[in-house]
Amino acid sequence: MENLAILLLVIFLVAMPMAYCVKEGAEEVDEWFDKLPYVKQKVTKLHFFFHDRFAGKHNITAVRVAHGPDTDKSPTSFGLVFIMDDPLTERMNPTSKELGRAQGLYAFSGQHELSLLMSFNLVFTTGEFNGSTLTVLGRNPAVLHREMPIVGGSGVFRMARGVASAKLRSFNMTTGNALIEYNVVVMHY
Ligand SMILES: *[C@@H]1O[C@H](CO)[C@@H](O)[C@H](O)[C@H]1NC(C)=O
Ligand SMILES: *[C@@H]1O[C@H](CO)[C@@H](O)[C@H](O)[C@H]1NC(C)=O
Ligand SMILES: *[C@@H]1O[C@H](CO)[C@@H](O)[C@H](O)[C@H]1NC(C)=O
Repeated sequence: MENLAILLLVIFLVAMPMAYCVKEGAEEVDEWFDKLPYVKQKVTKLHFFFHDRFAGKHNITAVRVAHGPDTDKSPTSFGLVFIMDDPLTERMNPTSKELGRAQGLYAFSGQHELSLLMSFNLVFTTGEFNGSTLTVLGRNPAVLHREMPIVGGSGVFRMARGVASAKLRSFNMTTGNALIEYNVVVMHY
């Protein structure tokens, strides 16, 4: 009888969706970890457009905050650091629905080639991912296609791991407006 009860409990836990996992608080996180062995890992794919405006007069989304002694002489801007709060939109048009923000920094870390260290959070503000984040930490060689690791997350993305693929769609030298298409694949619970 007792074994049956345990078996039913296990089936219940296995079958239970993790919709409640966004409950906040230290105790809730503890509970979430206790149930983790019975929950199946899932894969979520996300697609959005990232708008970075670091020059021009209007609606700047990324600001220069630091530089090295010879950054201005460096052909690769070595030592330059920007902080960004870039909108993420559903479609290419900057006025299409905003899905979240990319908040963090990028630093020009290549002495001999143009290469950025990216360290930022994808902060989702709509739908089922509202309030959840994914953390991107990686190298961005500023070529057409870039691949950056997703090293973690919060909310529905607790314990997430994955890959962010970014593709430059357009760049305006005058306004410093870069439009980048993101395809993100993450494994989480
Ligand atoms: C700046 O943002 C405002 C409000 O979103 C918008 O009305 C305006 O067209 C934008 N300006 C430029 C130059 O993008
Ligand atoms: C996202 O969550 C915040 C905080 O809980 C809430 O205020 C806001 O209305 C939500 N936005 C959407 C679009 O659901
Ligand atoms: C860059 O942006 C400016 C101001 O919005 C615009 O006049 C110009 O046509 C754009 N250049 C390109 C190459 O799109």
